[in-house]
Amino acid sequence: MEITIRKAEKLKNHPEDAGLGFGTFFTDHMFNMDYNPEKGWHNPRIEPYGPFELDPSTMVLHYGQAIFEGLKAYKTDSGEIQLFRPQDNFKRLNKSGHMLCMPELDEAFVLESLITLLNIEKSWVPGEPGTSLYIRPTIIATDPYIGLRSSNTYRFFIILSPVGAYYPEGFDPIKIWVTTDYVRAVRGGVGQAKTAGNYAASLYATELANKDGYTQVMWLDGVELKYVEEVGSMNIFFIIGDELITPELNRSILSGITRDSVIKLAESWGVTVVERKISIDEIYRAHENGALKEVFGSGTAAVISPVGNIKFNGREITIGDGGVGPFAAKLFDQLMDIQYGKSDDPFNWIMVVSA
Ligand SMILES: Cc1ncc(COP(=O)(O)O)c(C=O)c1O
Repeated sequence: MEITIRKAEKLKNHPEDAGLGFGTFFTDHMFNMDYNPEKGWHNPRIEPYGPFELDPSTMVLHYGQAIFEGLKAYKTDSGEIQLFRPQDNFKRLNKSGHMLCMPELDEAFVLESLITLLNIEKSWVPGEPGTSLYIRPTIIATDPYIGLRSSNTYRFFIILSPVGAYYPEGFDPIKIWVTTDYVRAVRGGVGQAKTAGNYAASLYATELANKDGYTQVMWLDGVELKYVEEVGSMNIFFIIGDELITPELNRSILSGITRDSVIKLAESWGVTVVERKISIDEIYRAHENGALKEVFGSGTAAVISPVGNIKFNGREITIGDGGVGPFAAKLFDQLMDIQYGKSDDPFNWIMVVSA
């Protein structure tokens, strides 16, 4: 398919790298493509960034049939723009789409479309350490229809947002709150899909955690309310004794690309990595007997997020000295070095998209 390109007549002023924050600025152009049963995916186009006009009955607004992805473009010291494992994001987008009854995308074509868009927008990739261009591919159900069924028509779009360093003052350990009153996802639900409703479902408990002085919720499984699944919108890791443990993918956990990268890096360093069920009780017991050394989250936004404190059933524990553990710091540095082209790329994770 040929991608039509219509350039913006007036370009925006670029924000200063220092004031970027997260997700508030958007570039001059976006990618759009439509689906209907007759034509399949059609009319791929790069157009000026701008609002959509949607009929108030548009299905996504009522039934939440929406999926998305999140990845970043990084600028290297020599000015190249590169992506980290983008093929895995488009593979996961199709996996989410399958669960939400959406038509499949041609992964190679949408990656090519993203690269075309990035080449038009490359001046928007910020260059200060830790900054990047956040990429949000999304699919929404567009039938104007009230009544529950899957939509016949869809819009796929990609928008780009220059974002700041997640840790402007360095690495800050987070405080997490564990609840048995609320869950993010359940076995048999859509927890393994990156779909809008999972994020809406997490808001209320997160608000309660924030009110209690905690940054994020540690989600327990929705069936037995015992086993740890994720933290906030990140996957989670524990170092107990000399093992690195992470919850096994059980269909309610999102299969994080950073999670997989952490596992591969740790194994390449000779660390024993175990993917299994791990209960909150086991974590408290490991803390009591001195075996719990580090806890950290992993995800595209923060890369690695050390956990300083956990509160469960009214009891707070401090992990180590409450600061950043050495293993979390080593992983953070290594992943950032690969993403920004400062070190070798032994797993072929990097795709250079523009010089
Ligand atoms: C619920 C959830 N879990 C985990 C992750 C981490 O996934 P990734 O490492 O691919 O960013 C994300 C972010 O995408 C997420 O939204």
